[in-house]
Amino acid sequence: MRKQIAAANWKMNCTLEQANELIDGLLKEKISVTHDREVVLAVPFPYLMLAKEKIKNTGGFKIAAQNCYTKTSGAFTGEVSATMLQSIGLDYVIIGHSERREIFGETNAMLAQKVDVCLAAGLAPIFCCGEPLSIREKETQNNFVEIQLKESLFHLKPEQIKNFVIAYEPIWAIGTGKTATSAQAQDMQAFIRRTIANKYGDAIADSISILYGGSVKANNATEIFGKPDVDGGLVGGASLVLAEFVSIIKSLK
Ligand code: PGA
Repeated sequence: MRKQIAAANWKMNCTLEQANELIDGLLKEKISVTHDREVVLAVPFPYLMLAKEKIKNTGGFKIAAQNCYTKTSGAFTGEVSATMLQSIGLDYVIIGHSERREIFGETNAMLAQKVDVCLAAGLAPIFCCGEPLSIREKETQNNFVEIQLKESLFHLKPEQIKNFVIAYEPIWAIGTGKTATSAQAQDMQAFIRRTIANKYGDAIADSISILYGGSVKANNATEIFGKPDVDGGLVGGASLVLAEFVSIIKSLK
């Protein structure tokens, strides 16, 4: 059975004090995270080691970085490599979040390189895909997402893609309070799984957790996560509110 995952994407939020409070608060809840589930905290770079240290005795909790660079080391002032992230014991890196694509100009080709450096370092990418509103309005979202997958992932070998996490995040639903309906999430996520199955076979497609992201809240998580191809969520705004995120974790199937 593939993993059900509640992943918090803090984005560029929280001071050190707030980060401490949020993680301590979460751990105090003593939520039982069974072996087929995971809670992932994608915190800003300065708090990664702190977060890692705090969760070290708590089963089912993992820490993710929100980005990494396409190269492993060198004269790239201000960048962080997958090798560095691996050396501090991380498990995951978010790759290709729509904010990286839209604000920082990351292309499908660049994301293919990021995926490669993550895998070479032994980190699992949480690969984000999803269409903007203009594409959804034209009803060409499947084609758009298929190209994102093909151009960034389909050079991989089957054993490399097996432990991936994919997050479908329609851009029009991120931070807008406008969630995709659970049916829209299910339709796209089933399409993503079929696209992977066509290339890599059913067994691999079935092993990949596909998360939904875009205005997931405590009051819609159960409905969205209840769909067969939705294996949890990548949660932005609501992951910064302790009670909301706790409730979202408890909504995993
Ligand atoms: P949101 O963000 O939950 O605030 O919409 C989701 C994301 O961008 O990962």
